[in-house]
Amino acid sequence: MNVICAKNYEDMSRKAANIISAQIIMKPDCVLGLATGSSPLSAYATLIDWYQKGDLDFSKVSSVNLDEYRGLSPENEQSYHYFMQKHLFDHINIRPDHTYIPDGMEPDAKKACKKHNDIIKKLGGIDLQLLGLGLNGHIGFNEPGIAFEKETHCVDLTESTIAANSRFFSSMEEVPTQAYTMGIKSIMMAKKILMIVSGEKKADIVAKAFLGPVTPAVPASILQMHPDVTLVADEAALSAYL
Ligand code: F6R
Repeated sequence: MNVICAKNYEDMSRKAANIISAQIIMKPDCVLGLATGSSPLSAYATLIDWYQKGDLDFSKVSSVNLDEYRGLSPENEQSYHYFMQKHLFDHINIRPDHTYIPDGMEPDAKKACKKHNDIIKKLGGIDLQLLGLGLNGHIGFNEPGIAFEKETHCVDLTESTIAANSRFFSSMEEVPTQAYTMGIKSIMMAKKILMIVSGEKKADIVAKAFLGPVTPAVPASILQMHPDVTLVADEAALSAYL
């Protein structure tokens, strides 16, 4: 595994954006696997900046996202569709019909997951998968205990996730209780993986994931078995690893 130590969140983000842009420059029609959350925000802003300066061209790029809440429409501000439009897609020249996010509005979970798996296969697989790391070691919505063999599947959200999300909705009925997520198998099939981690809060889980045993109890630990992983993390996140 290639570990790149960054000074702070901004430095981590610029280094990650460099790796993503190198991928696009080397293979203009590449397939990027994308994530939501706070970790990639500044990396996305940097890619937008470089696109606006004329240094990057997304016209041939395709993207597939890790996950989406079941039941949320793209117009819902809490959906990952909305996040991706707002923080990346609306500001670059990626073709809308080349961006793929699990369809949260498809009520048939089997159909929604098969559709996402088929898209990844039809695109020829993911060239570079960007990942954040959950405090408990989750990647995508693959929480501790998940089976490593799964491709895109439907998961029940934990009570604590549902409770934490409830503040964003006007009533409890609107809060999603399930999500569609690429599974560990889908993630492991990506040709290259780029994980970004920032902050002292994640120091323990970084050490567990990359120095501890490979176990479903820490889903990210499976990345130790992937042949091409780059971890870009800031000094705080690497403080228990180095
Ligand atoms: C996001 C995702 C999640 C996040 C993880 C870290 O699409 O699948 O696994 O990457 O929860 O979130 P942040 O970056 O907000 O700390």
